[in-house]
Amino acid sequence: MTETSRGAHEIDLSTSYLKLALSSPIVASASPLTREPRYLARLAEAGVGAVVLPSLFEEEVVAEETGLSAALEAGAEIFPEALGYFPDLTDGTDVAQRYVASLERAKARLSVPVIASLNATSGGGWTRYARLLAQAGADAIELNMYFMAADVRRSAAEIEAEQLALVSEVCSVSGVPVAVKLSPYYTATASFAQSVVSAGASGLVLFNRFYQPDIDLETMAVLPKVELSRSADLGLPLRWTAILRPQLDADVSIALTSGVHSGTDITKALAVGADVVMIASELLAAGPERVRSLEEELRSWLAAHEYGSVAELRGSVSAASAESPEAFERANYVRSLRSFELLAR
Ligand SMILES: Cc1cc2nc3c(=O)[nH]c(=O)nc-3n(C[C@H](O)[C@H](O)[C@H](O)COP(=O)(O)O)c2cc1C
Repeated sequence: MTETSRGAHEIDLSTSYLKLALSSPIVASASPLTREPRYLARLAEAGVGAVVLPSLFEEEVVAEETGLSAALEAGAEIFPEALGYFPDLTDGTDVAQRYVASLERAKARLSVPVIASLNATSGGGWTRYARLLAQAGADAIELNMYFMAADVRRSAAEIEAEQLALVSEVCSVSGVPVAVKLSPYYTATASFAQSVVSAGASGLVLFNRFYQPDIDLETMAVLPKVELSRSADLGLPLRWTAILRPQLDADVSIALTSGVHSGTDITKALAVGADVVMIASELLAAGPERVRSLEEELRSWLAAHEYGSVAELRGSVSAASAESPEAFERANYVRSLRSFELLAR
């Protein structure tokens, strides 16, 4: 760092996401940590730019039957203090009512934007709940499109048309900006991402992580399993953010999620054009205060490389500005394979 370069504390970390002004690009992604008021308060205190509440699952009651809530609880155990705040699905109150109550509480106590997340399965469900969450004060809505195209009778075209109709319906009724959390597994991911935007989404969240069940060989039962991500998981959303950023209108927000564990991971995400990073695993493992050191790592990198703001860094390495866009598309396929060094002789 030169003598003339700014101090790390002078760096402007502000960013804009879904037209919301955020003081930091570090957003707490939907996870058990964003469910409980005291963790939300600690996340805000530690400096997150916004929080995304865990999804309201239209079939949350069904989650008991499918074992999904057990899978999510498995994740909560990793940050032990986080145990014990999953909603008691048997307490008789309506899941949506309890969600709205948590949302209102979060809005009343936090000064950062609160994004509600919705995972519905039916047309009616998406619109009904989206309206409810917007009315309850959500600054924006994230549609969590966690869906497996597992039915051999249903084509990509059919499924995508249905999803786009849902996005369009939700965007038209909600009255707040809507981001769509996509899966990376579309037949033509880039074209589908553009279609989601054309259907009315103000932003994309790249990407949902798909949890792979395990098998218990003693009971021959299928076990739901949530594993935390690693930095190695960053490659997929990094590549797609770089590819999509220059192709989407500049006012379309991109949140990168999956595999962000360090200040350098955040720096890479911003460099390829993300407006924010959404972090779950690292915060579950290290606790809400990790936000503070992540921010320091980001600030130090920016200061050491003479960037005055996140805005200056953003998109400086996207597919358009990279010397060769194909680096992101085929990722120098042949060169990568050829460059592999055999360790064994
Ligand atoms: C225990 C756990 C619970 C999660 N719950 C939700 C959820 O309710 N809705 C959602 O959209 N994503 C959920 N996620 C996904 C995260 O928001 C995040 O997008 C994903 O874990 C990738 O980020 P990471 O690599 O920082 O973990 C959950 C993740 C974990 C680990």
